[in-house]
Amino acid sequence: MKNEAKKRGGFTSSLGFILAATGSAVGLGNLWKFPYIAGEGGGAIFVLIYLFFVLVLGVPIMLGEMAIGRKTKLNPIGAYHKLNKKFTFIGVIGVVCAFIILSYYSVIGGWVLKYITTYVTNTHVTDASAYFKNFIQSPVEPVIWHIVFMALTCIIVIGGVAKGIERASKIMLPLLFIFIIIIAIRSVTLPGAMEGVKYFVIPNFSHIDSISEISKVLLAAMGQVFFSLSLGMGAIITYGSYLNKEVNLQKSAFIIPTLDTLVAVLAGFAILPAVFAFGFKPTAGPGLLFETLPKVFESMPFGVIFGVLFFVLVFFAAITSSVSLLEVVTSYCIDNLKMKRATASIIIASIMTIIGIFAALSFGPLADVKFFGNTIFDLMSFVSDKLLMPLGGFFMCIFVGYIWGIDNASEEISNDGSIRFRWKKLFSIIMKYIAPAIILVIFITSFLPTK
Ligand code: TRP
Repeated sequence: MKNEAKKRGGFTSSLGFILAATGSAVGLGNLWKFPYIAGEGGGAIFVLIYLFFVLVLGVPIMLGEMAIGRKTKLNPIGAYHKLNKKFTFIGVIGVVCAFIILSYYSVIGGWVLKYITTYVTNTHVTDASAYFKNFIQSPVEPVIWHIVFMALTCIIVIGGVAKGIERASKIMLPLLFIFIIIIAIRSVTLPGAMEGVKYFVIPNFSHIDSISEISKVLLAAMGQVFFSLSLGMGAIITYGSYLNKEVNLQKSAFIIPTLDTLVAVLAGFAILPAVFAFGFKPTAGPGLLFETLPKVFESMPFGVIFGVLFFVLVFFAAITSSVSLLEVVTSYCIDNLKMKRATASIIIASIMTIIGIFAALSFGPLADVKFFGNTIFDLMSFVSDKLLMPLGGFFMCIFVGYIWGIDNASEEISNDGSIRFRWKKLFSIIMKYIAPAIILVIFITSFLPTK
């Protein structure tokens, strides 16, 4: 078994896997997306719903995906195909989803690169918001940075899984923790920050007064859980496929979501209080991190150095995630289309780059191109987070619950009986009934017109 994993370029240890999977999970979703989605979703209420969904959807679905991956040792399409041909489509949803996500993810990765250079060159910025808007509206710069980010992702994927990702995560994650904690402390102690802290921790139900508002927040929170934990589209199946039998899946499926959620909540504390302190709006959207944090750094001693280091860490977090996205599709092309790793990743990354260019331009020249009131960027993020990933998760639960079966899954999860699977009953109920029901109900209330 070990050799088999080695042949696929497997992880060298259990810790290596946890680090790499955490590296996939912790990324722009935590640092950039969580704070602004929480801001838009009404703060503390969103956070509570989010935490609940991490427990009832995130942990079990992650466990299920790990089991499928390690059992089959295949990419998502191959994995479902091997276990039951009729369910190959779940893998296909995942691969399509990876295309959409990485295309726009890399755009934001590009923004991060731009900010690193801004700080490294010590460019004097008088108005952080104007600077940001100027940049994202330009027809050239964001596209170039997006291409650079995608190229870097591609280079790591060509280098192979274990070497590239494992090594990067080992250094990056602990440092990132320390940095966000320092920034959060600064942010919370800014004059006027208390309003933001309250917004983030004390639920205020006055924003949520209609069914459609509630379902919006529920859908946003559910989508964010899938996005942040890299679930519902086969990334964890792919990582699981590189695992050997010794790894304790149950432990991993708790540790990874816990670390991921910790980073997201800390990022919320780093950003939302500062948003209030500087008079921004928590509902400002995707620019929140980029407009707010430079202000926080300005108010710190050695702010410039801090800014460089912080954005470098965000970059690491982003690239370990983007690598996992590219890896999903690459591993499919290697296993099923018998392509070479390098050829596969270059072709896929090129296609994603082209799709991403439209997302990059949708903040500037293409801002008026709208679908149902959404810009290209919003549409891509909507389709992946709120549609395809929950759908993939829904079918995954049905698949594990009824088709592959809880017993087969448990056998894998318990390492063929050598580790006790105490939560089997609960896992079974969640997979069969609770998770599919939650996803379905949220879908129905969100997409059917409510009176
Ligand atoms: N979870 C990552 C983040 O929070 C993004 C990501 C990486 C992802 N791989 C994924 C999201 C697979 C969905 C599916 O930034």
